[in-house]
Amino acid sequence: MDGLRVLLIISGGVAAYKSLDLIRRLQERGFTVTCVLTEAAQQFVTPLSVAALCGGRVHTDLFAPEAALSHITLSREADVVVVAPATANTLARMAAGLADDLATAVLLASDKPVLVAPAMNPAMWAASATRENVERLEARGVHRVGPECGDMACGETGAGRMADVSRIVDAVGDLLAASASGGSRPLAGRTVLVTAGPTHEPIDPVRFIANRSSGRQGQAIAVALARLGADVTLVHGPGSPASLPSVRVVPVTTALSMLEACEAALPVDVAVCAAAVADWRIELPAGQKIKKPEDGGAAGLSLSLVPNPDILARLSRPGPGRPDLVVGFAAETRDVIENAVRKRARKGCDWILANDVSDQGNRGQGSPFGHALNTIHFITPSGHEDWPTMSKEEVAGMLANRIVDALETSSTLRRSLP
Ligand code: PMT
Repeated sequence: MDGLRVLLIISGGVAAYKSLDLIRRLQERGFTVTCVLTEAAQQFVTPLSVAALCGGRVHTDLFAPEAALSHITLSREADVVVVAPATANTLARMAAGLADDLATAVLLASDKPVLVAPAMNPAMWAASATRENVERLEARGVHRVGPECGDMACGETGAGRMADVSRIVDAVGDLLAASASGGSRPLAGRTVLVTAGPTHEPIDPVRFIANRSSGRQGQAIAVALARLGADVTLVHGPGSPASLPSVRVVPVTTALSMLEACEAALPVDVAVCAAAVADWRIELPAGQKIKKPEDGGAAGLSLSLVPNPDILARLSRPGPGRPDLVVGFAAETRDVIENAVRKRARKGCDWILANDVSDQGNRGQGSPFGHALNTIHFITPSGHEDWPTMSKEEVAGMLANRIVDALETSSTLRRSLP
């Protein structure tokens, strides 16, 4: 990333102080950073402190005589434009196409990828005006990272905190990597559904049955496919991220709600089921907390379980609405390949990515649940391949490339049919 130029627009929110750290982190990754401060941003950080960090490359005024047409040159000289923090007001002004200060004029004039990192009070983030503005911007190709959930400077808690600086830096790197590859977006126009994470099956209002999935593998797949241009819906069990770059995240809790969200996302061209869906749920969850006997007796408790619907098998059912490609995972603790081969045939999906989730998984480095690494056995109707142990992001990249190849082959075949 050496020598690539980031134009950082700092708008006026409390999170503006984090932009100073963002400048440093971007520089550490080899980027040259130039900054534009809105008038409101200057209430939170001074042009002087920003100038000290980025070697004087700070701009504030659209009408400075020496800066005639600076909005055009600034937007042309950048490789990527980042708005962090992006306040509700700035997002609204971008959505409306205003250009009455240097920041909005640069954004309107920009022909470069734009990444926004929203930061605001949770109620402002949830407001329908903000939702509509963000949707409009995303529909125009603006990329977004965050906001995240957590405690806010205003004392409230919820979604609205600016994404962690390291996430913003990663998102900038991803965007630039995509444009460096010629902005290659072979999945543009394709729709993809990805499932990720665990499900929680309630026992009573305070207890549930769960599993060890973190959702990391599915999230990496969703991001990798979105980076290649796909329109991605990620249906995610408990623990879902507030947002991922260019991915529509649908949070769910139970297997039944995951199925419902998946069906609502149809039709899609590709479905990838990486979620660890509970195979059973409690037949009748208790309406009140189940109490221990008051006499202190050691009575046991039996729970009656019923099977959950199999989402992967439903998506794989033959018929006109079936995605062109359905990909499942198999979490096995023994006879991994044999079990996964049978699972693929039983569920009717096209491919299965099998992983050993025993303590000896990842070639002895531990179960992939929650781990940074995964070791995949890639099962197709014609056989299987053993992939090296890789980061989950690398697994996602490899799978994404296979998906691109498969879709290209199937459309070539379709085109050559009489
Ligand atoms: O989330 P991480 O911490 O990153 O860990 C990644 C992972 C280990 C969870 C992931 O790599 C993985 O293996 N996901 C599938 C887990 C699983 O439930 O496997 P399974 O063998 O029980 O299910 C087989 C397939 O059927 C899976 O695609 C699963 O999503 C799907 N399924 C299962 C049951 C069900 N009711 N509906 C389903 O769709």
